[in-house]
Amino acid sequence: MERLFGKPIVTQEQMRTRIRELGRQISADYAGKDLVLIGVLKGAYAFYADLARAIRIPMRVDFLVVTTEKTKDGTPGRVKLISDLTETITGKDVLLVEDIVDSGLTARRLLTVLAKKKPRSINICALLSKQDNRVVNVPVAYVGFTVPDRYIVGYGLDYQQKYRNLPYLAALDEEDLTKKRK
Ligand code: IMP
Ligand code: MG
Repeated sequence: MERLFGKPIVTQEQMRTRIRELGRQISADYAGKDLVLIGVLKGAYAFYADLARAIRIPMRVDFLVVTTEKTKDGTPGRVKLISDLTETITGKDVLLVEDIVDSGLTARRLLTVLAKKKPRSINICALLSKQDNRVVNVPVAYVGFTVPDRYIVGYGLDYQQKYRNLPYLAALDEEDLTKKRK
């Protein structure tokens, strides 16, 4: 598999360094607060596991499972909530951990869902942001890397549900997108 994606756009070393920085920053910002780290599955699973272990203050973990139905022309479709949180977040400080914020539609939908549960505060931490692709404006408090508008796989991110286990981030070319169907 690694031979298929020879040129990482973010290496494992760069990822480790950046996640350490994010962990330090979040630990300082949330010191003394009641932090609940909410992972958005499946895409955030790898980032979440590493980020959680880089945070050095007491916190809770919880997860949402969502799917973003993309339409045939590639534009984002409906965001479907498959599985909700297991515990209450009322009065707590929520940090939503996403793989990538692209159009912003998924993040905005999740903020709406979570706001109804009346947390004390809510912020987003995204491994990646495609800043130029925003359709809706959502505040992303913590961004791992800002990336250009290319299709990215690995480290949790998929193409047709595959390549999530690639240990670094790689960009697929147009050619890959038509060729790699296996
Ligand atoms: P948004 O709603 O357009 O912000 O899209 C968010 C979701 O689209 C992410 O959680 C991903 O599942 C998916 N997505 C967007 N861009 C990429 C990409 O480059 N690679 C893999 N998945 C992506
Ligand atoms: Mg996806």
